[in-house]
Formats: sequence, structure tokens, C-alpha cells
Amino acid sequence: MEEQLLATQAERIGPHMDVVLSADQIRRRVNELAHEIDRDFMDETPIVIGMLKGSFIFVADLCRAMAIPHHIDFMAVAAYGAGTTASGAPKLLKDLTVNITGRTVLIVEDIVDTGATLSHIRRLLMTRQPRRLASVALLDKRTHEDPELPIEYVGFKIDGGFVVGYGLDLAERYRHLPYIGRLNPTQTEETDTRV
Ligand code: PRP
Repeated sequence: MEEQLLATQAERIGPHMDVVLSADQIRRRVNELAHEIDRDFMDETPIVIGMLKGSFIFVADLCRAMAIPHHIDFMAVAAYGAGTTASGAPKLLKDLTVNITGRTVLIVEDIVDTGATLSHIRRLLMTRQPRRLASVALLDKRTHEDPELPIEYVGFKIDGGFVVGYGLDLAERYRHLPYIGRLNPTQTEETDTRV
């Protein structure tokens, strides 16, 4: 059944995408991350904060693989385009609905590219004085470690190229794919719909 679904999707998407992480590889790694988080936060009830929209599938899978009790909330920022303010800070589109002061917080990102978004969110959340703040990114595209931007849990380090699927989009397409694929450069010239 799953093979049939994947074949149908591959047929619709066409030959312009290479699968870089299969659904199975992602599932295995997400389970490993969840076990690490369970171990490290065993005595706490962290607030898991998903960064919309890209992290929605990752958050759903990660939370279901975690055994420890936790709360879930979401934030949304516009990282690029018209939403980027003159100061270069990403624009906050949706804030949390819970108070994180004195709480343990786990930020969940689908991908860290330049690190600007995560860096901004970490700074913002630190002003609210959580007890502990950690980050998890399914994909880390950075070529160098940044001591200013620790990411405690990383699913996969990936090379350049534009990746989509498992929540990640190109102009809102491809988010539903259960795997992560790298698009042929000619496919990335479509209009960007981000605000
Ligand atoms: C993507 C991704 C991260 C950010 C990473 O979000 O989900 O939040 O870009 O890039 P950076 O490290 O260079 O800041 P995007 O703005 O595409 O929005 P989306 O999650 O709604 O797709």
C-alpha cells in the first residue's frame, strides 16, 4: 500500500527530484531523536514548540515517538521576502499561546539554513525566561558549527540544493511528501508565495 502511494506520488512529481532521505530513514532517525529527548528530559514536562509551517509533520511524528509527558504549541515567522524587516529580523506571524517562563522549552525546526530564524526565535524566547531552552532541527544545512547557535538535536546534516517534502515546500508545493527530495535547479525558479 505504502509502495503504491509512493509510486503514485513519484509519478505525479516527475523525474526532476532525487530522494535524499526516504520515509524509512526519516522514521528511524525521528525515533532516535525522540529517545534521546526522552532520556534528557526524563524528569521534566517540556513545551515542544513547532515552527510553522515547515515543522508540522516533524512535530507530529516526533511527539508521537516521545514517551515523556510534554505540551505542544506553535509559532510562525516569515524568514525571508517581504516579511523580513529592515533590521533583518524575521517577522513574527504567530506567537505562542502558553507562558514559557520557568518552563523547559524545546524548539522544533524542520531545517536550519542560515540559522537566522532559529537564532531570532531563541533570542525572543530567552527574554521570556524559560528554565531551560533546547533546539531540535531535522535538517542542518550549515557548513560550520556556530557557537552562538547551539542545536542540541540534529536529525541529518545535509549539503546544498533545495530540498522539499516532509513539511518543506517550494512555493507551498511538496509539503505532503513522506520523504525529502532535492529539486533540480530549474524547478526552484517558481514564484515564491511566502509573505
Ligand atoms: C524555513 C524553515 C526555517 C527557516 C530556515 O521556513 O522552516 O524556519 O526557513 O531558514 P534560515 O535558517 O535561513 O533562517 P520558511 O520561511 O520557508 O517558512 P515555512 O516554514 O512556512 O515553509
